[in-house]
Amino acid sequence: MRAAASFLWGTATAGHQVEGSNVAADIWLLEQVRETRFAVPSGDACDSLNRWQEDIAIVKALGLNAYRFSVEWSRIEPARGQFSRAWLDHYARVAAACCDAGLAPVVTLSHFTSPRWFAAAGGWSDAEAPSRFAHFADMVGRRLAGLARHVVTFNEPNLPLMGRWAPTPLADPVREGLDAMLAAAARTTGSERFDVWVYSRGDDADLERLLAGHRNARAAWKANDPAALVGLSLALPDAQGDDNAIAAYRRHAEDPFLAAAREDDFIGVQTYGRLRFGRDAVLSPPAGAELTQSGDEFYPQALGASVRHAHARTGRPVFVTENGIAAADDAQRCRYLPAAIDALDAARKEGVPVLGYIHWSLLDNFEWRRGYAQHFGLVAVDRGNFRRTPKPSARLYADLVRARS
Ligand code: NOJ
Repeated sequence: MRAAASFLWGTATAGHQVEGSNVAADIWLLEQVRETRFAVPSGDACDSLNRWQEDIAIVKALGLNAYRFSVEWSRIEPARGQFSRAWLDHYARVAAACCDAGLAPVVTLSHFTSPRWFAAAGGWSDAEAPSRFAHFADMVGRRLAGLARHVVTFNEPNLPLMGRWAPTPLADPVREGLDAMLAAAARTTGSERFDVWVYSRGDDADLERLLAGHRNARAAWKANDPAALVGLSLALPDAQGDDNAIAAYRRHAEDPFLAAAREDDFIGVQTYGRLRFGRDAVLSPPAGAELTQSGDEFYPQALGASVRHAHARTGRPVFVTENGIAAADDAQRCRYLPAAIDALDAARKEGVPVLGYIHWSLLDNFEWRRGYAQHFGLVAVDRGNFRRTPKPSARLYADLVRARS
């Protein structure tokens, strides 16, 4: 069964951030390597491997009509060319349960994680990487096509390039320590070629291979289901300030990806706020600005500019596949959500075609290097017993959606 093609209102998770048991699956070992910069390992995460039905029931109870989740390549293809029917069946069950609940499954093929065998072969620096990824996409497509109509190939593959725009690369927190992490991972795996950290180190050849992987994966999925909508989701903050700096930033961190997205069914937009550019540095939030739990500026209106920009540069319909904030106090999220959706509405009224809005995240979850200290969820998760408790923002989001339907 397919969900109707109306505007999608949803919420998102990603496998590694919510499933748990990531160690056994060998998914992303860097968090296990002590000298890397992770606060804590993901551990049981939100135990969604066991509680995915409950997660879907919560999304349904909120009256939404879409749920975005990712499939874990490491579980599905634990060794090169060896595919696990059990895990393919698992994700097919998740997708089918979404459909039964009236939720369009939005499936992410790669959300920051890759199997260890892929990393050990050099990650995206390996010439075979695009065909390996396409093979994986084909296998998932064979099982999920017809269930999942919306597919994101890569989640924010431009992230590693966001600190690379200045003449002297910035010591931005995302890139900081990358070489040390890769060296530690190489020692741990015993592979000299070990190279996986949010897709690639971002050199031009790696980028070409990654974009080829995207195109091949998209073709593979559409061969299984020509009606599917397949796109690429990018980190697209609202860039403001010095025009030359913005142009340099975009040349590195956006343009090659936006060019690739012109061939797609949609451009996935993921916006959390704005980036303010000085001549050769990203500026801190203005004095006195309200901050979120992650120390970023509270700036929900960014979504409007990002959506307009993505559409103008690609000509494609926009799909907001992530938007949200880390908030210690849920009241802040309750102010963020309506303001972000108002900004989106304004862009839609101007004629920007938008397929849907997906809030990050359904659950308070494993926020990568920052562990469990940042709360992006509409639903709180008790770290002791994994009990889910919807926050006031979940109810507010449900009300906003109902009012628009
Ligand atoms: C974008 C990423 O896709 C997601 O994994 C992360 O948790 C959120 N941003 C918040 O940082």
